[in-house]
Order: sequence, then C-alpha cells, then structure tokens
Amino acid sequence: MSTEGKSRVLTTRKLLEMKQKGEKIAMLTAYDYTSAKILDEAGIDIILVGDSAANVMAGHETTLPITIDQMIYHAQSVMRAVKNPLVVVDMPFGTYQGNSKEAVSSAIRIMKESEADALKVEGGSEIMESVRRILSTGIPVMGHLGLTPQSIHKFGTYTVRAREDAEAAKLVEDAIALEEAGCFALVLEKIPATLAAKVASILKIPVIGIGAGNGVDGQVLVMHDMLGLNTDFSPRFLRRYHNLKDEMLKAFGSYINDVRSGDFPNENEQY
Ligand code: KIV
Repeated sequence: MSTEGKSRVLTTRKLLEMKQKGEKIAMLTAYDYTSAKILDEAGIDIILVGDSAANVMAGHETTLPITIDQMIYHAQSVMRAVKNPLVVVDMPFGTYQGNSKEAVSSAIRIMKESEADALKVEGGSEIMESVRRILSTGIPVMGHLGLTPQSIHKFGTYTVRAREDAEAAKLVEDAIALEEAGCFALVLEKIPATLAAKVASILKIPVIGIGAGNGVDGQVLVMHDMLGLNTDFSPRFLRRYHNLKDEMLKAFGSYINDVRSGDFPNENEQY
C-alpha cells in the first residue's frame, strides 16, 4: 500500500527555508474549491481557510459566529482543489480558548475531517496551554498576534494595535513564546511596521504580515478584499489588485439585459 498520498510541495520546513533564504512568502485566503484551484494554479505559497469566511462568505459582522462544522466544510472544499500550497485552517472562536483538552479535540477533529496541513490560532500567553497541547499531538500551529479579530469585543475597535509600549512588549514576549512552544509561523495583523520588523528579525520562524509593513517574511490578504469584491472594507493596508465587483456588475447586467431582450440564448446556444 502506498503511503505517499498527495504530498504537498509547500511544507512548514520549506517555509522556514524560504525565510532563511530571504524569499518572501505569499498567502491569501480561500474558502471554496474553485478559488483554491485558481490560487494553486497562480502559485500561492499558503492558503488560509480563514474564519474571515464568517464575514465575506456568510455576511456576519465579526468572525465569532462561524462554527467548527462550517470551518471544516470550507477546509474540505479547499483541500479538494489544491496540490501545491500549504493549507492552514483557522480554529474558530470558542474551540480552543477556554479549555486546552477541548482545544486538542477541536484541533484533531478539524485535521481529521478536513485533511488540512496546519491550524491557526489567535492569541499569546492566554492560550499557550492550548497551543502546547495541540503541538504535542504533532499538528503544526501558526500563531496570530496584534489585531486578533476573535477578540474584537475586548478591543472595541479595529484600529492599529500595540502602539503603546506595554502592548508592544507583550506582543514581542508572546511571539517569542509561540516560537519556543513550537509554532511554525506567525501572523501579525495591523501593528506598526517597525514593531513587526523587530519581531521578524528576532524570530527564526516566518512572520507573515497583514497591515504590518514590509519588514516581515511574507504577506497575507483576504482574497475578497484584494480582488475588490468587497468594497465596503478599505483599510490603508489593503492594496486592491482588481475591481471584480464592477466586472461582476457589468457581466450580471449584460446577462439580465440579454435574457430580457430575448438575445440569450441564440441559435448556437441551443440544441
Ligand atoms: O481569517 C482571516 O482571514 C485571517 C487573516 C486576516 C490573517 O485571519
């Protein structure tokens, strides 16, 4: 019996080598088969099945309502599509914060049912016991510090984090602790660029930024935001690579007109 299966080109070890060689890492979110297939073809390094699915797929105001079943469904859809990138799945709110035993059960369930490569969790010292327990099972873990959207009700705002010395110092301590615990990478969201660069220079593991400047080892964006599908969200850090909403409006408008005018389908578009 073959045990080789579908071996991913991008591994956690490869990401570490990329950092050592100074090669930047490109990461984007995906939540469905079709988008993940296109991202794979484009050559993306990491696909994040982010809990931002709660916002861009389901229309919730925060990431908190998404469930473990819904995350597994999105992750399974992505996994059916990909050959090359590393697929990281967000552990949803409430599945790892309170109880480290429950954290391990949630982590194992997501990995077993989705067959993804790794998990991402938000937070530092507060969740370290869960991080250690999950890592002890052999599941690779990516950390996430700075503006951690699952804590939005504690923060009360989506503005830049860790501008104050005390919060910046805790972030550096947490980053080091996550690396020492065995995390393979770290996301830093919406923090000052100088602080992010400092963390990236201290850590040996790759640091991926979103709104954290260019002094880190890679970047991540939410696919719907960078494609311009979601025009309500325009933070300063977001570069829009397309205006897909306008393209879709044009295409949908043409279709509606063609149906209404009787132009679609024509003779070649029927049997
Ligand atoms: O859920 C998500 O999309 C994320 C990224 C913003 C890093 O966590």
